[in-house]
Amino acid sequence: MSDSSQLNILVVGSGGREHALMEKCRQSPMAGRVIAAPGNGGMAAEVDCYPVSVEDIPALVRLAQEQSIELVVVGPEVPLSLGLVDALAEFGIPAYGPNQAAAQLESSKAFCKDFFARHQIPTAAYATFTEVAPALAYLERHPAPIVIKASGLAAGKGVIMAETQETAVAAVKDMLEGDAFGSSGREIIIEETLYGEEASIHVIVSGEDFLCLPASQDHKRVGEGDSGPNTGGMGAYTPTSRVTPALQTAIEAQVIRPTLAGLKADGIDYRGTLYAGLMLTEDGVKVLEYNVRFGDPETQVLLPMVADDLVPVLLASARGETLPDQLKIRDGAAIVVVLAAGGYPGSYAKGTPITLPGSLPEQSAIVHAGTTRDADGTIRTAGGRVLGVSGQAANLEDAAALAYQVCDQIEFDGKYLRRDIGHRELTR
Ligand code: AMP
Ligand code: GLY
Repeated sequence: MSDSSQLNILVVGSGGREHALMEKCRQSPMAGRVIAAPGNGGMAAEVDCYPVSVEDIPALVRLAQEQSIELVVVGPEVPLSLGLVDALAEFGIPAYGPNQAAAQLESSKAFCKDFFARHQIPTAAYATFTEVAPALAYLERHPAPIVIKASGLAAGKGVIMAETQETAVAAVKDMLEGDAFGSSGREIIIEETLYGEEASIHVIVSGEDFLCLPASQDHKRVGEGDSGPNTGGMGAYTPTSRVTPALQTAIEAQVIRPTLAGLKADGIDYRGTLYAGLMLTEDGVKVLEYNVRFGDPETQVLLPMVADDLVPVLLASARGETLPDQLKIRDGAAIVVVLAAGGYPGSYAKGTPITLPGSLPEQSAIVHAGTTRDADGTIRTAGGRVLGVSGQAANLEDAAALAYQVCDQIEFDGKYLRRDIGHRELTR
């Protein structure tokens, strides 16, 4: 058992996001014992990791009970959409993250788009289909360029930006008739293509109470200059000068507040992270999507920018209590560069040994994503996104120089990284 003022914390997940969340929790004077499930090679070097799948809800609840956990911090969307927070609540264990009903904002794009329409939240014009013939008829009236999306969870891969009518028609047929995204593609969204620059806003929510983290930008494409296929994210930085204080105010007024009021009106008590993927168009800000968890790798730059202890904030959200009036955010900028296994997001090798630097410069960090740790301490690759290297400095140039300096000291066969993370901001 922990000291009565300290909490035993379980972090659920195994990516860079969870390693960053775990680090932030461990820095808290409120943290008692911190454990993870299933964790990764970097997390295992620091805390006890339990080999429980993020999809095994009963086993996660059992683990939390057996380990006298007093706060569960849920990283990924899958356990949220499977009802982990609801299952823990039955045993009185507070968990940071939305319940299953609220998680539909991410797990069903059709639910999310209908929510936008119902509550007048600005988004791309769209229609939802489960049958091929009406979907193709809609495409006749709304020709390419157009966007086709699988409604269900597709690990960031269920979006086809169709430049030609042939691609659009093929995408509709692949999803609804073929097995392109399994059951996630049995319902599709066809929506207008929006043009502009993207930005993300992460909001920590407790009912209608919320705290915004600084705006960030992700780099979804695998190749430099934003080329090639989409990935989970090859790097990120914060803040972005595109989101001025005036635009931030507009985003809160036009997007965040109506969303939280709409959730309440729909009978959903939202707690946890709300991550708005925004397109900054000529006609104003529009929401591309909601995620119901922290972004990965955005978390690796957002959390180090928070000067305050995050554990009391996560706990207040988990309990549905009032949040502090504000979060203290550090000055300057942060960047994270993802080191991936060559071939990602296609097939790639696993089990490759990694050589890490013995010490790191101040204000830099290495977060593990897809790694394992042997009994002798050897760290090996175990996923497509292997490590995240972050740097913090007074400005983005210096933060990038610091991160890339550390990237160059890490060695493993097939190491791949983008050299242009932050390029939009750096060339403004
Ligand atoms: P989503 O999972 O809905 O955020 O889509 C993934 C990515 O696809 C977004 O980050 C955008 O880059 C792109 N995207 C999605 N919907 C649209 C749209 N309507 N117009 C332009 N780009 C889009
Ligand atoms: N980096 C994008 C995401 O976490 O969804």
